[in-house]
Amino acid sequence: MRLLVAGGAGFIGCNFVRLRLRETDDQIVVLDKLTYAGREENLDDVRDHERFRFERGAIEDPRVVAEVMEGCDAVVNFAAETHVDRSIASAGDFVTTNARGTWVLLEAARERGLRYVQVSTDEVYGSIESGSFTESSPLRPSSPYSATKAGGDLLAASYFHTYGLPTVVCRGSNNYGPYQYPEKLIPLMILNALAGDPLPVYGDGLNVRNWLHAEDFGRAIGVVLESGVPGDAYNVGGPDECANLDVVRRILALCGRDESLIEFVADRPGHDRRYSLASEKVRALGWSPQVRFEQGLEQTVAWYRDSSWWWEPIRSGEYRSYYARHYGRELG
Ligand code: NAD
Ligand code: DAU
Repeated sequence: MRLLVAGGAGFIGCNFVRLRLRETDDQIVVLDKLTYAGREENLDDVRDHERFRFERGAIEDPRVVAEVMEGCDAVVNFAAETHVDRSIASAGDFVTTNARGTWVLLEAARERGLRYVQVSTDEVYGSIESGSFTESSPLRPSSPYSATKAGGDLLAASYFHTYGLPTVVCRGSNNYGPYQYPEKLIPLMILNALAGDPLPVYGDGLNVRNWLHAEDFGRAIGVVLESGVPGDAYNVGGPDECANLDVVRRILALCGRDESLIEFVADRPGHDRRYSLASEKVRALGWSPQVRFEQGLEQTVAWYRDSSWWWEPIRSGEYRSYYARHYGRELG
């Protein structure tokens, strides 16, 4: 297959590209705008691979999209603005990329009749105190981020129902693993713990997330790409759920730091309490998660500890000013 991977220079996208080059014969073209979160360094080790090509460009630009889609058999769309806190501060880019950009990709895929996978999130269902959401649960997004992602999901489904385009939507729970930008809970807490900076926990720290290793999500996306039913959505939940405070305590222990570094800070507005997905449908296609949270978290801490080449430029660049603006204090 010749795959267009939009957003392939981001966290989950780059892990997906690496996995597909290793485990399939796919030819891969990555289209990525390289926002603050997208980094060419994330693809350093595959840059010279004979089945890989990188193009810088925005998914909301129809001319660029038409050019890179030429000769492709399928599209997997990871490209998105992804951080909930940034969407609360300013939602414009989220609308442009997650809704309009998805529409531009779908239009170009329709002209060529390509198979299309929309990578999405458990957040489109909103919060659930107990039990789990199925694919037929209503979409009740809470944040501007998840609202724009829900818009993308609905557009993808509408292109199947209206035009017969073979689209599928793949909704993952919270991902973690190497190459995740440190604005997100796990890498933020690891880097702060390694540096001896305070670990800012929102609210009471008892919000629950369901943790999915990025390689497990990448394999699920591959399964959905190859055998998902057109027009359908597939939930992909991780094997373990955990309250934020528990995640932070585990990270401190793995970094050899004590809990005095924990600092409770103001809660996120509209903060969803718990996410949970029923994943029977994707499991019926033959997928199951391989990485338990305890083992995956230990490997992730080790990767960040050994990868200062990757995060030092981030921690001294845009992220530094974002951190000061959002948390009201400088990184140490
Ligand atoms: P990320 O922020 O690390 O990467 C996003 C990538 O998209 C970056 O490389 C960025 O440069 C690129 N991008 C942004 N706007 C673009 C545009 N207009 N045109 C082209 N490229 C653009 O995000 P991630 O965590 O890797 O998430 C990837 C996808 O998976 C997103 O669609 C997200 O909604 C979804 N998702 C994420 C998680 C998670 O826990 N991180 C869970 C489930 C689903
Ligand atoms: O659930 C899937 C989603 O997971 C993806 O769709 C999003 O793109 C991704 O960003 C992530 O969203 P969350 O809001 O769940 O992830 P985040 O890492 O921002 O926060 C995880 C939890 O940790 C959440 O309850 C808020 C809390 N938190 C986060 C940060 C950054 C803190 O307590 N302190 C923090 O500094």
